Amino acid sequence: MDKREDVLILAIESSCDETAAAVVRNGREVLSNIISSQIALHTVYGGVVPEIASRRHIEKINQVIEEALEKAGKTLEDITAIAVTYGPGLVGALLVGVSAAKAICFATGKPLIGVHHIEGHISANFIENKDLEPPFVCLVVSGGHTHLVVVKDYGTYGILGCTRDDAAGEAFDKVARAIGLGYPGGPKIDKLSKEGNPDAISFPRAKIDGASYDFSFSGLKSAVLNYLNSCEMKGISVNNADVAASFQKAVIDVLVEHALHAVKEYGFQKFAIAGGVASNSSLRAAFETECAKRKIDFYYPSPVLCTDNAAMIGAAGYYEYQKGTRSGYDLNAVPNLKLGER
Ligand code: KG4
Ligand code: ZN
Repeated sequence: MDKREDVLILAIESSCDETAAAVVRNGREVLSNIISSQIALHTVYGGVVPEIASRRHIEKINQVIEEALEKAGKTLEDITAIAVTYGPGLVGALLVGVSAAKAICFATGKPLIGVHHIEGHISANFIENKDLEPPFVCLVVSGGHTHLVVVKDYGTYGILGCTRDDAAGEAFDKVARAIGLGYPGGPKIDKLSKEGNPDAISFPRAKIDGASYDFSFSGLKSAVLNYLNSCEMKGISVNNADVAASFQKAVIDVLVEHALHAVKEYGFQKFAIAGGVASNSSLRAAFETECAKRKIDFYYPSPVLCTDNAAMIGAAGYYEYQKGTRSGYDLNAVPNLKLGER
């Protein structure tokens, strides 16, 4: 039963290949979290095809929203405000969610709140960690982004570093494709790595002069491709599990070193991870161990809240609502929206 002061957010997410809707109470309690994944649809192409993604979002969006309300046992009347991802992401995909949210707000007169996708990923941490409050450092590692962020307050961010080229998840996906694992590569590399030796092949750990919190993964990806080519040329058979495990370790080493260096240098006590790659089991284990050694409190969302979902948009939307953020009916999809921009 809701109390009068309860804030119920209906959240919508359609930035890439998941059509998702959720109902979230007071930013931290998920009443429903419906995700319609398009993975099977894109697998044959080895990656997300934007035009196909947009079309599938259109087919699914109303159904997913209705299901989210039904599962939560709520009607649109009970909802306080509608939050929707408006960037960054694929423009055609984003537009479907933004248009649906605007239509609902227009029909009901409820407030509309545009949410940044990365702010959503970070806010996923608030859902299961009821005691987590800013300030803290958050490493966002997804298919499109690698950001090291100081969460100064709810909705207020300082960016310490980001990737200069490929995102961490992108590197997982490209390496997975090279060793024939298919799309999406992250979970497959995670699984195969358990059978491999992470010290079998020495892949490079990129350092960027003068920007100790920036990342670069394209050199590592090329090193893996060169290794595979040279094995082929020499007629040496490749142990894919060793390649996966060694590649994964190289990514994790760099992420752990940069992130925990920042936590220490800026004097924070709390550290969180977010985004699809944050569901990687070895990454979680490595941060668990290293944070314990350094007496840093470590936070992470359940895997289903790491990859794209609308509950995280509902959590972020709640804090934006409390700050007074409201979007107009002119809200548009912004494919390259920067964190902290409105
Ligand atoms: O956050 P997300 O769902 O979408 C973006 O906002 O990009 O992240 C998707 C990315 C993909 O690159 C996928 O391969 C990666 O997250 N990923 C993983 C794992 N699960 C998903 N990477 C490594 N290990 C995993 N277990
Ligand atoms: Zn995402």
